[in-house]
Amino acid sequence: MSEQNEETAVPEADTQAQAQPARGAAAAPSRRTVLGWGGAGLALGAAAAGTAAAALGGGSDHVPAALTGAAVPFHGPNQAGIATPVQDRLHFAAFDVKTKDRAELVQLLKDWTRAAERMTAGLPVGEGAVGGLPEAPPDDTGEALGLKPSRLTLTIGFGPSLFAKDRFGLEGRRPEALVDLELFPGDNLDPARSGGDLCVQACADDPQVAVHAIRQLARIGFGKAAMRWSQLGFGKTSSTTPEEQTPRNMMGFKDGTRNIAGTDTAALDEHVWVAGKDVAGPSAWMAGGSYLVARRIRMNIETWDRTPLQEQEDIFGRDKAEGAPVGKSKERDEPFLKAMKPEAHVRLAHPDSNNGATILRRGYSFTDGTDGLGRLDAGLFFLAYQRDVRKAFIPIQRQLAKSDVLNEYIQHVGSAVFAVPPGVRDKDDWWGRALFA
Ligand code: HEM
Repeated sequence: MSEQNEETAVPEADTQAQAQPARGAAAAPSRRTVLGWGGAGLALGAAAAGTAAAALGGGSDHVPAALTGAAVPFHGPNQAGIATPVQDRLHFAAFDVKTKDRAELVQLLKDWTRAAERMTAGLPVGEGAVGGLPEAPPDDTGEALGLKPSRLTLTIGFGPSLFAKDRFGLEGRRPEALVDLELFPGDNLDPARSGGDLCVQACADDPQVAVHAIRQLARIGFGKAAMRWSQLGFGKTSSTTPEEQTPRNMMGFKDGTRNIAGTDTAALDEHVWVAGKDVAGPSAWMAGGSYLVARRIRMNIETWDRTPLQEQEDIFGRDKAEGAPVGKSKERDEPFLKAMKPEAHVRLAHPDSNNGATILRRGYSFTDGTDGLGRLDAGLFFLAYQRDVRKAFIPIQRQLAKSDVLNEYIQHVGSAVFAVPPGVRDKDDWWGRALFA
């Protein structure tokens, strides 16, 4: 693969092309046209990501619809996919590491990083899907050819089990905040949908782009890492862009109103990014990272649908139409918690009820068919990022699990926690380099 040739210099036109709305428009750098440039190396990936950065702006808060085909920069101090404006679709995968060889795991992380750099820039993996040796399987499976980058982000995390004794020599490097989550009251966790040594969160505005990305990583990992479980999400249930319309969850309520905005750097520093002072010594590799809690929360949709509107609104402490807190008229009005029922979801989850505990929510709705009894297997795939799980998700969830009236309509059926390392700085860096240094 050539590192750089005259074809890999990203043409000026393509800087704007990142912002072109129409798929296949003359200047749009679709995966197909990119492939046509032939032999495009990582230099192109990085350059394309750079131009997209210009189009979107790092941590951009407002994404006009016309930009949804664009690329989100892969490189940076923090991983993309956390403060990034939430994309429409999700494919989340947890992996078990099968190899016992530390060097092989390191090589896998390097290979994944190089593939992620390319895919997030709208490029196929390796030498691509077509045009290679007819005798060999192509490097890329091809289903994203012709599709735009679609704001694909790939975010990796390391589960507690990766740090276990006698595995990869990482036991001394497990950050204290990467705790095993306790079993909360009401949890009905399926081990086959829980845990994992590694996770990759793929978010994109095109579901095929997200699924393609996870599939390529799984292929690259063959023999070294096996997918343990995965989850598709079809509609964001939280946004990090407050000026946009707040999405609704499967219960029909606006979700994500009081979330951390992707542009609120002060709140991100306070509640989401791990600071250097949090992780002195052997855990210093986590500075600039974050902790992710993933919960598959099934909703008893049929019961919910038979619940009167007033009761539904009392359960959340917000009205259904506007999303305004009880006693207020506008969605963004400050909630007055005492006006809500004592066990309303918002009242219990609010930072004022949890010593200031605050999380960045980034979940998605899911519907995985029916359960054999004619009920929808649907709900919320809850994703929350935070600086310290012990001071954020755990206290909030303890409170919710104990008293939330919403519990009558939901059940937590899957659970995982991951240490999400800082961003990949440049093309020589790779996911987890500081951890394995
Ligand atoms: C299926 C399960 C859940 C549903 C349907 C749900 C729905 C909602 C809705 C509609 C809101 C109000 C709008 C907003 O500010 O976003 C809200 C707020 C919130 N939820 Fe949930 N939620 C669920 C689970 C959870 C869990 C497991 C947690 C954390 C452990 C959580 C934490 C929060 C927080 C922190 C707020 C904002 C409270 C505030 O600051 O006013 N939620 N949720």
